[in-house]
Amino acid sequence: MSVHQYIQKDAAAAAEACARHILSQLEAAAAGKDQVTMAVSGGNSPRPIFEALARSGFDWRMVHLFFADERCVPPMDAQSNFKMVMEAFVTPARFPGVQVHRVETELEPHRAAQQYVRTLQHVFSLEPGETLHFDLIHLGMGPDAHTASLFPGDPLIENRDGLAAATYVEKFQQWRVTLLPAVLLGARHTVVFAPGADKAEAMRTVLDGEFDALKYPAQIPAHLGRGVAWFMDAASARLLEE
Ligand code: 6PG
Repeated sequence: MSVHQYIQKDAAAAAEACARHILSQLEAAAAGKDQVTMAVSGGNSPRPIFEALARSGFDWRMVHLFFADERCVPPMDAQSNFKMVMEAFVTPARFPGVQVHRVETELEPHRAAQQYVRTLQHVFSLEPGETLHFDLIHLGMGPDAHTASLFPGDPLIENRDGLAAATYVEKFQQWRVTLLPAVLLGARHTVVFAPGADKAEAMRTVLDGEFDALKYPAQIPAHLGRGVAWFMDAASARLLEE
């Protein structure tokens, strides 16, 4: 398990560094392949990453874009990760729309999750029971150490064979669809982007604390992932051991 920590002075610098890293990873993944797969997270902090990717001039024609998780709201709802990524990245980057694979949140959550699994199986040409490997997954982390939509205490944290599932997030009183641990761990490369003082405590626990993924789901990539790069700012890295 190789974990690299990149600490920048502020969130804007961390977002730029993270975008550059994502582009270099995608460039490497594209060599000799006809398809590159990436899953991204939503929330508030990653928007500058997507804006930097959109400005990069990268050739997106080989890339298939998925979502690490999605809120079960209409696709044009202000809370939709799909909406934010379309506005900040897909549209300005002229990313091929047919290669954006959103969660169909107009369906009932469990149906949306089943449909998303079918899309994953199709795009990855998966045989039944086969694990899939994203070339790159971008994750965030909440102050409670959740990642994707795996929140502390969710039994899905211990699910090691599913691809994606619907889960009800009590603290937000909201249904979500999330990629499951086997998919997060199957990624050839993972970037976790987590700036902000409100994440300092979680960052210390996740990176330096005892392993307990049920309490700290972001420890799934941190302790079990391969090729994980953490992008932080001085504020979120403040409590890390030297
Ligand atoms: C979501 C995200 C979620 C996010 C964290 C961090 O749907 O909210 O996928 O996992 O990455 O909540 O969000 P911020 O980066 O906005 O703090």
